[in-house]
Amino acid sequence: MEIRAVVGHITEQETPAIALGLFEGTEIPLAGTAGELDAALNGELGSVIADGDFKGKINETLVLYTHDWLPAKRLILVGLGKPEEVTLNVIREASATTAQKARSLGLSTLHTVVFGEDVEGISRELSTSAAAEAVAEGALLGLYRFTELKTQDENHRADPEQLVIVISGENDLAAMQEALNRGQIVAESTMLARDLVNRPANVATPSHLAKVAQEIATETGTVCKILEKPALKELGMHLFLSVNQGGNEPARMIVLEHNAGVPDLPTVVLVGKGITFDTGGISLKPSRGMEAMKGDMGGAAAVLGALRAVALLNLPLHVVGLAPVTDNMPDAQATKPGDVVKSLNGLTVEIINTDAEGRLILADALTYAGEFQPDAVFDVATLTGGRIVALGDHAAAVMGDQGLIDRLVAAGEATKERVWPMPLFKEYGKQIESDVADLKNVGGRAASSITAAYFLSKFVPDGIKWAHIDIAGLGIRDKSDPYVPKGATGFGVRLFVEALRRWDA
Ligand code: BES
Ligand code: ZN
Ligand code: ZN
Repeated sequence: MEIRAVVGHITEQETPAIALGLFEGTEIPLAGTAGELDAALNGELGSVIADGDFKGKINETLVLYTHDWLPAKRLILVGLGKPEEVTLNVIREASATTAQKARSLGLSTLHTVVFGEDVEGISRELSTSAAAEAVAEGALLGLYRFTELKTQDENHRADPEQLVIVISGENDLAAMQEALNRGQIVAESTMLARDLVNRPANVATPSHLAKVAQEIATETGTVCKILEKPALKELGMHLFLSVNQGGNEPARMIVLEHNAGVPDLPTVVLVGKGITFDTGGISLKPSRGMEAMKGDMGGAAAVLGALRAVALLNLPLHVVGLAPVTDNMPDAQATKPGDVVKSLNGLTVEIINTDAEGRLILADALTYAGEFQPDAVFDVATLTGGRIVALGDHAAAVMGDQGLIDRLVAAGEATKERVWPMPLFKEYGKQIESDVADLKNVGGRAASSITAAYFLSKFVPDGIKWAHIDIAGLGIRDKSDPYVPKGATGFGVRLFVEALRRWDA
């Protein structure tokens, strides 16, 4: 969908539909844009509200026909809830809801003003440009569907081709278009991550992820390097390789770098777990629900999506994306429970359970992150079932450096990709002590998200600030929200992009 700004007047637009956001409890006579549309419609809008047919509740919609009172054929009303409770998230949702309504009506074009724009007080809380970004982001994310593997899809109507934001002043046109473009960049990068997670493991193989990373590099001017198996061996990433041993697809380390070689920029490394399919290995998972393990590369997908956005937004940071990618398969060659393997940083690990593989590939990647002398390292991973038990649908777990956690909590609040801290007390370390090696890779059922993070902390080079984000269960959902349709969510892309955009603030 094309999203563009035009200068003009909303009442004069010849279009299949105008979308209008309305707050709950809006006073009559209507003011601003709503007042002008109401006047053109001979008071119809005021009556619909006065009679209670449209209350303005969040994501409520009502379609009115204009019967030639306006050059626009329809008015799509969308509720914004209470004015004092409006946030960018409300605007993203309203925009998604409207775009979906336009699609279900089969409309090619939708005109609107920025939702919530001309209501007194909104501009103090939310800038017009942030609201415009949210409109673009919400519409695109709300229309997202994963259709590339369907040969028959008759039940669905085509997406609207364009969303036009009508603004009054010529002076604001360039700034408005830039805000819309930023929203589009963030949304499309999120959708890239969604596509990667939705793709089954026979499509989204390690080589496929590497190819997508290279395409991102070509599109954005980032530098992409793929470390192949011989290089991984040479470096000594034996924990990573031990996970790859049972499969036929060679492991790869994806390195994607924004502002590579530019001096004097803060360096942030993002590390994403890229298990393209997690069978559990010799510690085989039960078959029920195993298909969801195609999404065990959700961390890697989030990192690739974030790197794309960061590069296209041209953030003034040196950002490195690292994604160790492999499947986790059982086989005669596979790692066996009890095997001891040496990591890149020299620690030996007793692999008690081959299904605790994410921490093995991340351990070597975190050590490797030290090569970039980073100011901060974040890793994101579908790491533990314990995360789902502890926090459910509404927050990822974060552990590590308090300053980095604070940044993530703030960015999570703004994007609605929320995170919540868990402790990393050193006493948890006892649970991963091994009788035969330096460490073992599991610490029992108790506090499993924490012991997994504690394990990772042992591989972060000394003196480097690090935070770990556990997104298990958040990468694929079976429920829909307006701009997060069921299936892959792309969780992590918007969180990272927001945290990095605020880096200096
Ligand atoms: N990929 C899984 C974690 C997971 C579970 C992600 C559910 C998404 C949804 C991970 O590799 C795993 O198997 N973790 C085990 C570790 C256990 C064997 C110590 C877990 O947390 O149950
Ligand atoms: Zn596993
Ligand atoms: Zn896994």
